Amino acid sequence: MTDKKRVLSGMRPTGALHLGHYHGALKNWVRLQSEMECFYFVADWHALTTHYENPDVIEASVYEMVIDWLATGIDPEQCTLFLQSRLPEHAELFTLLAMGTPLSWLERVPTYKDQQQQLKDKDLSTYGFLGYPLLQAADILIYKAHYVPVGEDQASHVELTREAARRFNDLYGRRKTDDAKTAALLESLPKEDARYIKSMAKKRTEQGDDTVLAKLPGFLSKFETMGSDDKALLTSFVSGKGKVVLVEPDVLLTNASKLPGLDGRKMSKSYGNAIGIREEAASIEKKVREMPTDPARVKRTDAGNPEKCPVWQFHLVYSDENRKKWVTEGCTTAGIGCIECKKTVSDAILLEQQPMLDRAKPYIANPARVREIVDNGCSRAQAVAKSTMTDVRKAMGLNY
Ligand code: TRP
Ligand code: SF4
Repeated sequence: MTDKKRVLSGMRPTGALHLGHYHGALKNWVRLQSEMECFYFVADWHALTTHYENPDVIEASVYEMVIDWLATGIDPEQCTLFLQSRLPEHAELFTLLAMGTPLSWLERVPTYKDQQQQLKDKDLSTYGFLGYPLLQAADILIYKAHYVPVGEDQASHVELTREAARRFNDLYGRRKTDDAKTAALLESLPKEDARYIKSMAKKRTEQGDDTVLAKLPGFLSKFETMGSDDKALLTSFVSGKGKVVLVEPDVLLTNASKLPGLDGRKMSKSYGNAIGIREEAASIEKKVREMPTDPARVKRTDAGNPEKCPVWQFHLVYSDENRKKWVTEGCTTAGIGCIECKKTVSDAILLEQQPMLDRAKPYIANPARVREIVDNGCSRAQAVAKSTMTDVRKAMGLNY
């Protein structure tokens, strides 16, 4: 368990999850849960950054979203499921990181301006919304996560997280007391050697010359009686870097097939082009039946081009090679009609959905069990978060 790499990801509870979430993220989460130590959480504070005026939808969505996760096959025995707002440690780390984070880092994150443009009906010129990626950085860093599975739109947030970790380690990975110890140690060495080590540090930290780092171990090996702690101190002095307190995560871009919305744009509830994970069969059938198709196919006898049809994008996700061949041939020769073409899509969606409905059923019948899963997950997560915060406070000298 412990030598597995750690994965962390979150999702905002702003309404029922749809098939875009399933194919874009959750399918990947399910796959990862057996390979790595996974932490998945409900990012309700992040939801508040855009829904602070009507938080009711968040309240209504938290446990529904967890049921959606469980429906897709997320297994609470294999991973830790928790709720962000139950862990004040996230807010504490966010506050501490905020002290040293330049405003410009947040202003230049592309999602900041993009989202303000796209969600024009909301006033997003808030302090909380600007801080969104830094709160996300705190979420990630507090678990010392190695990997963050997210979509491409979130890659810049993971990049900011790396920068925040690097900055924290640079600022606090080496304490003042270490500086005093280093000075005393240099004092105790032959003058010539001390001068040489200081010149290496200068080359490295002022001119960015990394070659000195390669030479250093060889040079230090001549001090036969020097302990490894003292050597580490000198290495840290020369490199200008301290201990790694916070771990820089890597983004794990979801390679799962992406499913666009019914109209071909990105699937999103706000576009009205989404199919819910647990949506009623009749409603799914109706939505697929009413999907736009290649505009060239006005009459049944008009040939079409699947490339110009949103239904084809669904076939790419839901159909095997045979069915895809049937579509391309039938569509381009007017051999099949759009109604039968679409019917195979809605049938495939319903087939995929059935096991999800089956998995969700006992949880819908027993909400207390869902709460218990989240309670247990929060306790597990909190143990990790508390331990990181102990390191963080110690590094910053806040344990007075
Ligand atoms: N910003 C993410 C999203 O849209 C949600 C999120 C919050 C998150 N904190 C995170 C994802 C930490 C990964 C890791 O949807
Ligand atoms: Fe689209 Fe299928 Fe109709 Fe072709 S036959 S236009 S792929 S719905």
